[in-house]
Amino acid sequence: MNKEYYLSMKNITKKFGDVVANNNINFNVKGGEIHALLGENGAGKSTLMNMLSGIYIPDGGSIFIHGREARFKSPTDAIKSGVGMIYQHFKLIESMTAIQNILLGNKRKIFLNYDQELKKIQKIQDKYGFDVDLNKYVYDMSVGERENLEILKVLCRGADILILDEPTAVFTPQETKKLFDLMNRMKKEGCSIIFITHKLDEVMEVADSITILRKGESVETVKKEDTTPKELVDKMIGYHVDLAIKRSNTTIGKTILKVSDLNLINDANIPVLKNINFEIHEGEVVGIAGISGCGQKELCEAIAGVTKISSGKIEFEGKDITCKDSAKLAKENIGISFVPEDRIGMGLVGS
Ligand SMILES: Nc1ncnc2c1ncn2[C@@H]1O[C@H](COP(=O)(O)OP(=O)(O)OP(=O)(O)O)[C@@H](O)[C@H]1O
Ligand SMILES: [Mg+2]
Repeated sequence: MNKEYYLSMKNITKKFGDVVANNNINFNVKGGEIHALLGENGAGKSTLMNMLSGIYIPDGGSIFIHGREARFKSPTDAIKSGVGMIYQHFKLIESMTAIQNILLGNKRKIFLNYDQELKKIQKIQDKYGFDVDLNKYVYDMSVGERENLEILKVLCRGADILILDEPTAVFTPQETKKLFDLMNRMKKEGCSIIFITHKLDEVMEVADSITILRKGESVETVKKEDTTPKELVDKMIGYHVDLAIKRSNTTIGKTILKVSDLNLINDANIPVLKNINFEIHEGEVVGIAGISGCGQKELCEAIAGVTKISSGKIEFEGKDITCKDSAKLAKENIGISFVPEDRIGMGLVGS
């Protein structure tokens, strides 16, 4: 095996029943590089990384970390070998502070010397340029701060191979930039970073190498400077696609949906939607912009009758549908469909 690789996965296969999630995959990552793992939904990216982080055991193939074969039985084994995974859905305890989250599960001894641990963590913060407020409670943190804390946590456990699964999915552009600066700093310090994403512009900005997975197989590994976003899409999908969207001329017609003075107070008595007003007309596409957690999910759920609003009015083609839940909307053939952002969320598909 090539010594310069921090990580080498050879002929990895993983099946779930009849589904072959990973078929004979080869994947190599060098020290001090940012390696993007690219592929459509269901291509097998998370499955491959879950084997690297000790969550799944491969059905076939071998994993080498720093040249030595690794047989992980649990995430603890993986972290001991220097592999740290930062999951799409953070694994932090909200009612604890940053430092408590970092020290949690630290099984080296019964009693910890807090000041000593604090110094150690601060040293790592300084080395990589983090600015995590260690005494801040997780529930008070933005998504960007939580991501930084997750990364700091695995670095404190000695990880030098970091896996980031779609880290920027819910980030603001500023948070993304900050993360990329941090990734570059970690790279300079010799870490290997595996970056899972769908966003080609981010791949082109931050990655050194790119491995493309398609339908559970590794298609190719390319250097960033040898490829283009167009080529990457073709490799991901398996045939040529035209990325240019042809916009047809439309005429805006009558009002279809009208939302007036909509307010929503959640179960914790916090207002999540305040006085929302807008109209959508026939033949119109309306975008709703906002960072994650600003109420767009709740707004969609309210319109689709998944969530009951506190006050206001929703009209569809002139008909008041304010108090109708999604079952009623579907039954009465009101032409609203709602595809939620999260695959396991609640939606509405009417006629
Ligand atoms: N625990 C599981 N049980 C059954 N099937 C699974 C399981 N995990 C993944 N799969 C299937 O394996 C295939 C690969 O899934 P995987 O989650 O690895 O894809 P992915 O590339 O991470 O996709 P995404 O971009 O949507 O996160 C899919 O067909 C998926 O449905
Ligand atoms: Mg995934």
